[in-house]
Amino acid sequence: MIKKFFPVSKPFVNNSDIKNVIASMKLGWISSSGPIIKKFEMKFSKIVKKKYSITVTSGTAALDVAVKSLNLESNSEVLVPDFTIISNLNSILKNNLKPVLVDCDKIKWNMKVEDIKKKITKKTKAIMAVHIYGFPCEIDKIKKICAEKKLYLIEDAAEMLGHKYKGRKCGSFGDVSTFSFYANKNMTTGEGGMICTNSKKIYQNCYKYKNLSFGKKIRFKHDELGWNYRMTSIQAALGLSQIRKINKNISIKIKIGKIYYKYLKNNKNIYIQPPRIKNLDNSYWVVGILNKSKTQKLKLQKFLKNNGIETRDFFYPMHKQPLLKKHIFGKNNYKFPNSTFLSNNGFYLPSYYSLKEDEIKYICRKINSFYKFKDLIN
Ligand SMILES: Cc1ncc(COP(=O)(O)O)c(C=O)c1O
Repeated sequence: MIKKFFPVSKPFVNNSDIKNVIASMKLGWISSSGPIIKKFEMKFSKIVKKKYSITVTSGTAALDVAVKSLNLESNSEVLVPDFTIISNLNSILKNNLKPVLVDCDKIKWNMKVEDIKKKITKKTKAIMAVHIYGFPCEIDKIKKICAEKKLYLIEDAAEMLGHKYKGRKCGSFGDVSTFSFYANKNMTTGEGGMICTNSKKIYQNCYKYKNLSFGKKIRFKHDELGWNYRMTSIQAALGLSQIRKINKNISIKIKIGKIYYKYLKNNKNIYIQPPRIKNLDNSYWVVGILNKSKTQKLKLQKFLKNNGIETRDFFYPMHKQPLLKKHIFGKNNYKFPNSTFLSNNGFYLPSYYSLKEDEIKYICRKINSFYKFKDLIN
């Protein structure tokens, strides 16, 4: 008998996606100019409720361009979570700015607002707020701090497209906001990303920097560095079809997360985030669990792997990244107990759209049996 394998993620691509891509190719629009890209950007703006949307090749590219578009003076400080993906840190370093790391909280796994307040100096010019895994970060409080201190707000909503923070769309708060369309996101274009803003100046800058900084009057005369981060129309055609699925995809993820929660919440050896904390809903973009120690985590991961269940480690903290130590701080005495704890003890479980309740039960039963937790699942 072949044992079933449960990957952590699988994209949701159906026939209407395939038809849309073929139609765009038949029309002859395959590169980055033409009506398909424009239509995708316009539709996206409506969803995120921002005036301008700019397609790019990835969420990482979106961050590079978004940061550059603010034209901050070299060595200005940008606050960024310690518990996040390397793309955030990279975008700050690549633009000759100084990342200032902020610890996260242990419950919702997002930037701690008190830590943000402590880290602001005269050199701080922006806060990069990132929504991580399930719960949105406290973006209204962060926005208020930005307004008071006259800082730019860069909002990375790569993981939270379509989800809401207190009734307002994630990605609609930033002076500039970014998204990713990698295969595991709430919608995909294979690879891809988007930048959104209400500022015409930021829009014009983003458009310029993603497109080799071509000259306005003389096309091949360049006054600044730029990238070729142009999305293709083939990807945008997939995006136009996928964009219709965002709400459905989020509701499936939430349903999956709630089933996991139901079967794991009583197991005192692990922590799984609940569906709601105060007035915030969990989007369950991924379903993470925290173990009590790193040793237990590693043993459980191995046990699940042997049972055909793939897991993915949580992010590795930014303050421990070899590249950061070399380039920025040398020896540093900063402590990030919470992000270190999450990184050591956490991983996430399979949560793709076609995962069935029985399969989730099977995975939970395995986790509970590993911990010799009296299995209450019937
Ligand atoms: C919060 C966040 N920002 C940015 C990215 C980078 O996106 P991409 O993989 O499209 O470059 C990711 C990727 O998963 C992410 O989770």
